[in-house]
Amino acid sequence: MKALLLIDSEDDYIKLLDVDKPVPQKNQILVRLKAAALNRRDQWIRQGMYPGIQFNTILGSDGAGVVESVGDGVSSDLIDAEVIINPNISWGENPKAQSPDYHILGMPTNGTLAEYVVVEANRIQQKPSHLSWEEAAALPLGGLTAYRALFTQGHVAPKENVLISGAGGGVAQLAFLFAMAAGANVYVTSGSRDKLEKCLGLGAVAGFNYKDEHWCKEALKTTGGFDLVIDSAGGDQLNDFVKMMKPAGRIVFYGATNGMPSKIDMFRMFWNQVTLQGSTMGNDQEFEQMLELVNNNRIKPIIDSVRPLDEVISAFDEMKAGKQFGKLVLRP
Ligand SMILES: NC(=O)c1ccc[n+]([C@@H]2O[C@H](COP(=O)([O-])OP(=O)(O)OC[C@H]3O[C@@H](n4cnc5c(N)ncnc54)[C@H](OP(=O)(O)O)[C@@H]3O)[C@@H](O)[C@H]2O)c1
Repeated sequence: MKALLLIDSEDDYIKLLDVDKPVPQKNQILVRLKAAALNRRDQWIRQGMYPGIQFNTILGSDGAGVVESVGDGVSSDLIDAEVIINPNISWGENPKAQSPDYHILGMPTNGTLAEYVVVEANRIQQKPSHLSWEEAAALPLGGLTAYRALFTQGHVAPKENVLISGAGGGVAQLAFLFAMAAGANVYVTSGSRDKLEKCLGLGAVAGFNYKDEHWCKEALKTTGGFDLVIDSAGGDQLNDFVKMMKPAGRIVFYGATNGMPSKIDMFRMFWNQVTLQGSTMGNDQEFEQMLELVNNNRIKPIIDSVRPLDEVISAFDEMKAGKQFGKLVLRP
């Protein structure tokens, strides 16, 4: 089968190769992938900027497809089921934080950028019927991350002023759609006027370009401050968020694409009762709750583009350039 492997080569650390079709072992299933999607994580791995690099692994955390065969101990009733894959592996017993064994599908375990993937049978859930294969594949990692950040950690509530920063991002667009479904007043930032326009068209109350020098002043004036900010860019912009929080506001971050802030305005934070909360992926229960939210509100992830798996390298290059709005999807 065709698969995208992480290889030890200085030309490019990723390459589409022919490998053996995997065989499900005890308690595992084989999924014939109908679609897979990229995450920033995949590009970080390609750049060697992710912990635990392991060559000769098939990358990819997001996928949806049809169960083709099952290993011992798994009911054959599952064959032909239309499923999406939960990319969490070994979260552990504590719902609040992952165990030391925790990892994500697509390194060190072989992932979804391939024609087939083998996963433990308890990693699959029924594909939401209102989603196309491409939309379903766009959901798992980003949806889970957005859900935990917004609901479990952010405690989003109806009518609150919520800012989704970098709304063009794969996780952020899902946080944006989920916050709208939660009945919040949703504001966005983006570095692209075009992406801001798209968010306004989808129901954002207002949008701000984080490249404009005075965007914070404008945002504060327009909104009166935020109850909740969801961010993955990090960097010194963190202090701008601190300034824009309403009393007892919460800032939840699940990434630090732009690195760490050089300082943190602790005085303003303690005086204003501001919470700074880290968040990562989510537990299996949150994955199910996220699917329930998506099903009940018929939420559809935003797809930037769909291309054949043969063109997967170009999708990685596009992700690196950051021009996409929504998810980059591959069809095996
Ligand atoms: N902890 C976790 O479980 C977890 C899970 C998923 C992702 N992450 C991390 O979260 C980050 C985003 O992941 P992703 O998959 O959503 O990536 P992505 O699709 O590449 O999105 C990144 C987005 O960051 C935004 N951005 C860049 N500079 C910004 C700035 N100064 N202020 C605000 N936004 C800015 C851009 O938004 P615009 O295009 O709108 O300008 C861009 O689209 C990555 O660092 C990733 O590693 C962590």
